Amino acid sequence: MSEILKSIMSKAAKLQKNIVLPEGEDSRVVIAASQAVAEGLAKITLLGNAEEIAKNNPDVSLEGINIIDPVTYDKTPVYAQMLFEARQGKINKKTGLPEYADADAAKASILKDYTMYAALMLKAGDVDGLVSGACHSTANTLRPGLQVIKTAPGIKTVSSSFIMVAPEGENKYNPDGVAVFADCAINIEPSAEEIADIAISSAETARDIAGIEPRVAMLSFSTKGSGNDDKFFKSVPKMQQATALAKAAAPDLILDGEFQFDAAVAPEVGKLKAPDSKVAGNANVFIFPNINAGNIGYKIAQRFGGYMALGPVCQGFAKPINDLSRGCNSDDVKAVIAITALQAK
Ligand SMILES: CC(C)(COP(=O)(O)OP(=O)(O)OC[C@H]1O[C@@H](n2cnc3c(N)ncnc32)[C@H](O)[C@@H]1OP(=O)(O)O)[C@@H](O)C(=O)NCCC(=O)NCCS
Repeated sequence: MSEILKSIMSKAAKLQKNIVLPEGEDSRVVIAASQAVAEGLAKITLLGNAEEIAKNNPDVSLEGINIIDPVTYDKTPVYAQMLFEARQGKINKKTGLPEYADADAAKASILKDYTMYAALMLKAGDVDGLVSGACHSTANTLRPGLQVIKTAPGIKTVSSSFIMVAPEGENKYNPDGVAVFADCAINIEPSAEEIADIAISSAETARDIAGIEPRVAMLSFSTKGSGNDDKFFKSVPKMQQATALAKAAAPDLILDGEFQFDAAVAPEVGKLKAPDSKVAGNANVFIFPNINAGNIGYKIAQRFGGYMALGPVCQGFAKPINDLSRGCNSDDVKAVIAITALQAK
């Protein structure tokens, strides 16, 4: 296990947050729940039928896991009412009808969608964080949170970042040995306002999870107006506007742009192209203009640079929710439980 992951796990263990895992039907999740409790990583609430979970996982100790069966749990009607009230006035895009006609309809729905059930437990304050996605798509994992948990104060955009861990040895352009890349996984073509939110949330992820003091670079193919794409996507003015918006919203944050990647990380280039910038040449948080650039960028760092990518870490929710990869193993689930615990305020 990498040093950073060890540090995240040990910080999480001190907090003893209660994390809900709605996918009791998935053995990788059940094994992670069992180990998380045994190792003192977090308190775990697992959704599903206790007898069935035990039958499907005969070799796994369920001791210490709080197993809740939504079918029989006495707070289910309370959660159903919460959902009905939270979504009143919302129209289902497919049917053109209200999402939930009444609390009974909301109840029937949450008994089929345990991720939404878990999001309502989080909204009610009955748990501190939610981890799902081992057997559900990203969209189905995040949508309940987007619909009922909503965004943190001052932030309108839920986004994601990867914590990029450098390979062993000296790394001239990343002396911290760790960097944050965003948004590589959620927002496809973010606006300037959304990019400003992504930058502010990523700085928080850098501080809270990666354990580094953020120096945020807003990335482009242009440095401080050296290039322009006015005839095409207007991405340079977008990054310039995002930089101005983020600086106005978070004046204490060390953030600057727009920068080419080399101007952001190489002191010799930064000095030449942006001599007055505190960020040029020593950035450690990198904000990309869209998901194409972000996703391609993090995979280049992984494959050519030997970096380990931890995440995607979801950020910007009012309360923490994280999405697992469907190819995850139980160790990955534990790592995401720990990250989620650190995000719970
Ligand atoms: C995030 C995502 C799942 C949302 O999809 P969706 O549910 O179809 O989104 P909708 O536009 O229907 O919005 C649903 C609600 O979420 C809100 N929302 C959507 N995206 C949001 C965001 N990034 N931040 C904050 N709120 C958001 C909408 O405002 C809407 O709220 P409302 O219903 O209360 O009015 C979608 O953007 C997505 O699939 N992104 C790409 C994910 C992906 O495939 N990544 C690749 C994995 S590496």
